[in-house]
Amino acid sequence: MITKEKRPADSIPAPSAWISKSYQTLAAPPGPEERFPFEQLFTLRTKKILPYLRHVARAYGDFARIQLAQVWIYVASHPDDVREILQSKHRSFVKGVGADLVRDALGYGLFSAEGELHRRQQKLMQPAFRTEAIERYAAMMLECFDYSDAEWQDGQTIDVVEEMHRLTMNVATRTLFNMPPDDRQKKLGHALTVLLRGIAQRISNPFGILKATLPILPDREWKECLRILDEQIGKIIDDHEAGVLPDDDLLGQLMSATDDAGLKLSRKQLRDETLTLFVAGHETTAIALSWAWYEAARDPAIQAKLQEEVARVCGGRTPAYSDLPQLRYCRRVFQESLRYYPPIYLFLRQALSTMQLRDYTIPKGSVFAISPYLVHHDPRFYPNPEKFDPDRWSEDFESQLHKFAYFPFSGGPRVCIGERFAWCEGILALAWFTQRWDFELAPYQDIRPGDGGTMRPAGAIEMILRRRDASSTPMSAPAPSATSPGSPGKCPFTKA
Ligand code: HEM
Repeated sequence: MITKEKRPADSIPAPSAWISKSYQTLAAPPGPEERFPFEQLFTLRTKKILPYLRHVARAYGDFARIQLAQVWIYVASHPDDVREILQSKHRSFVKGVGADLVRDALGYGLFSAEGELHRRQQKLMQPAFRTEAIERYAAMMLECFDYSDAEWQDGQTIDVVEEMHRLTMNVATRTLFNMPPDDRQKKLGHALTVLLRGIAQRISNPFGILKATLPILPDREWKECLRILDEQIGKIIDDHEAGVLPDDDLLGQLMSATDDAGLKLSRKQLRDETLTLFVAGHETTAIALSWAWYEAARDPAIQAKLQEEVARVCGGRTPAYSDLPQLRYCRRVFQESLRYYPPIYLFLRQALSTMQLRDYTIPKGSVFAISPYLVHHDPRFYPNPEKFDPDRWSEDFESQLHKFAYFPFSGGPRVCIGERFAWCEGILALAWFTQRWDFELAPYQDIRPGDGGTMRPAGAIEMILRRRDASSTPMSAPAPSATSPGSPGKCPFTKA
């Protein structure tokens, strides 16, 4: 039975081409009414996406509806609904407009592919993210940490946001392409930065969601950076084919993977997947690490606990992959950073057919906005949610937490394929740099999340570096042997 408010027919705008007309007669979840055409589109432009979604969830509840010109957006912010959409009823949804926003850059890579194509590619790519592969990438990550370390100087002020982006970019090019940090990588890095800025602008621009009805022309810079990326990635694929670069990297594994019919990824698919992994894998981890350093520098107790743990677990030697299960506090800091500042704070799904959710009939084509940020800051699931508190992640707390109350990597069949990679990189980086450096926040800074498509800080986060006592950081004693990962839905490196 439909129990919620009935909307008068005259308050409903003309549906766009892909929204069924049948919804004109249906009850709808609560949400702000438009007092004049395009009101919410303009409110979103001026108030920005996250504060506005927060306002909608607080004012209208867990399941609300907003109107963007001709499109209705359902804001689902209870873990039960998140589970329905991402897991139980996942077959009834596609990424739809969410994937279209990045299609001209990422083509049909794993992030933007749908249906059967997505399933085939996921299967082909999974082996490249298994435990043995991650252990191999971990060694490459440590080389990249060394590279940053060698560039930093005692007393120097760094922008930690820029440095973490450089670091994760080096990790991406090293693990994906076996490329050391060099000039070619710099060229690739610059083009990628432009591409990411363009993608962020599209995602954060509410007009982007209306792209199906409003064509947005790519600008010249966007086209030029796509040309450079295509050219550079093409050369890297050529080098792999010619055996110039060793093939124990991610690209090498993708090139040799075959599907059930014995078919390999085509050159175009390889390009799409490589660029997708590059884009999806470096900015997100850089954001999580930037906020983790910021919080650790703000609270001396957090930094001291990190240092104490690394000294206890690693002694004087370099942290290694095999230490991950013991680095519990480093894991909690990274975990809390992903809760408090989920790098992808919003993602979209589109209904493939008309369906029932709660007491509502949801028309085919409806867009759902799912925000880890809203759920991660809900006091029903997180006591004192506005406090950055790594200690909240006790085993007891985790075991009673709703599985979909923590989903920085999404969930269900479209969960982030790089989750294990990201935990490994995040925890190891925290341990590695904690062992060598004190991070001191430079004074008088206005630090807050930006209003792009990700949780990237609005500007720089300046930190003064202090090299820690050399006697506490002797390098490279042998590490103990590797251990196996934990269960899905949690950090795979949680110690049982
Ligand atoms: C802290 C770091 C990371 C976060 C927070 C994160 C978050 C996410 C989220 C939320 C999604 C799902 C988006 C949606 O459903 O629309 C996703 C998908 C994806 N991520 Fe990550 N990610 C991270 C790191 C990585 C890394 C390191 C890689 C690769 C090396 C990666 C590759 C991907 C890919 C390929 C997808 C698409 C998966 C699919 O649709 O099957 N991510 N990520």
